Amino acid sequence: MLCGLIMAGGKGERFWPLSTEEKPKQFLNLLGEDTMIQMTVKRLGRLIPIERIFVVTAERYVKLVKEQLPNLPERNIIVEPVGKNTAPCIALSAFTVEKYYGDATLVVVPSDHLIKDVERFIRTIGAAASFVESKEDAIVTLGIKPDRPETGYGYIKYNNLEEKIDGLGVNSVERFVEKPNLETAQKYLNEGNYLWNSGMFIWKVSTIKKHTQTYLPDTYEVIDEIAASVDMDDFEDVLRQKYSEVESISVDYGIMEKAENIYVIPSDFGWDDVGSWSSVERYSEKDEDNNVSIGHVKYIESRNNLVIGNGKKVAVVGLEDIFIIDTDDVILIGKKDLLNDIKNIKEQVNN
Ligand code: GDD
Ligand code: MG
Repeated sequence: MLCGLIMAGGKGERFWPLSTEEKPKQFLNLLGEDTMIQMTVKRLGRLIPIERIFVVTAERYVKLVKEQLPNLPERNIIVEPVGKNTAPCIALSAFTVEKYYGDATLVVVPSDHLIKDVERFIRTIGAAASFVESKEDAIVTLGIKPDRPETGYGYIKYNNLEEKIDGLGVNSVERFVEKPNLETAQKYLNEGNYLWNSGMFIWKVSTIKKHTQTYLPDTYEVIDEIAASVDMDDFEDVLRQKYSEVESISVDYGIMEKAENIYVIPSDFGWDDVGSWSSVERYSEKDEDNNVSIGHVKYIESRNNLVIGNGKKVAVVGLEDIFIIDTDDVILIGKKDLLNDIKNIKEQVNN
């Protein structure tokens, strides 16, 4: 049985002031009508019926999930009282999915990425699932050919021996290294047999449980206790109290760097984690003067601008290479090439 798990509890603020802790990137429509999480559900929905798609998120985002995904059955929202990063959220979800679908094959994906070639993506996920179902305890990752020494990603060193599944190549993984420093990332890029981890994992519920138990035994124990009380009246109290004890750690550091039976499908479906405004610009429709906008924007003798409106009509006259981001709390205006250091801008504005 194939199920989907969308991780939607991250609080990335790289799109501040548009993204905030109250409304992080996965709930924004940065690229068209749909928000990132809506695009994610539609994409997975091509292969997995909505009844078998689960969303794991922090309590504070449940309202947004319900508003944005009205067709998602309520029981499929897995709620963490507090965010503890991805290893605990996947483990908690594995127990929930098991309750409904037994030892399902789970396609674990982030909620905030762009995939351009959905057909190809679906074919890849299908092949990954067949592979996982044919090989005991396999974890399949989807690897992207790197084009720069990015330090915000995991790197997968793969073995050249390739197996074929549904016409796609699957390689075994020699090493998984999460977020190396720049020097190491450059070395991996030069060596050539490394791929970026796209942040998606296809594995069975039993494999998730087994690996959590092996590599994060304390986490496993607590989550096992939580799961044991799922049908009790005090479940919410137990969850709230026990989950807060769990160590906060990502699945990449907690499991992938240590596990042995990882495989990778080198993939080329047009993947981008949309980590900055420049990737929003890259994938957005532009007008004839290369302006990008969200909302109702009128450009007069203006070129190469980026304008994010907030309901009002915005008119830009005689400007080039600037950005305007209008939100309920802040209007941020500046030179476009300075927009990439948003963390620094945010700190200075809030000081
Ligand atoms: N439910 C829940 N709870 N979801 C979470 C939590 C949490 O505590 N923390 C993060 N997430 C969600 C995010 O919303 C996102 O969709 C996904 O999990 C991945 O988390 P990120 O915080 O965005 O991870 P990352 O980008 O630093 O790194 C991961 O993705 C890279 C590719 O974009 C890693 O898997 C890297 O190895 C990978 O290269
Ligand atoms: Mg991310």
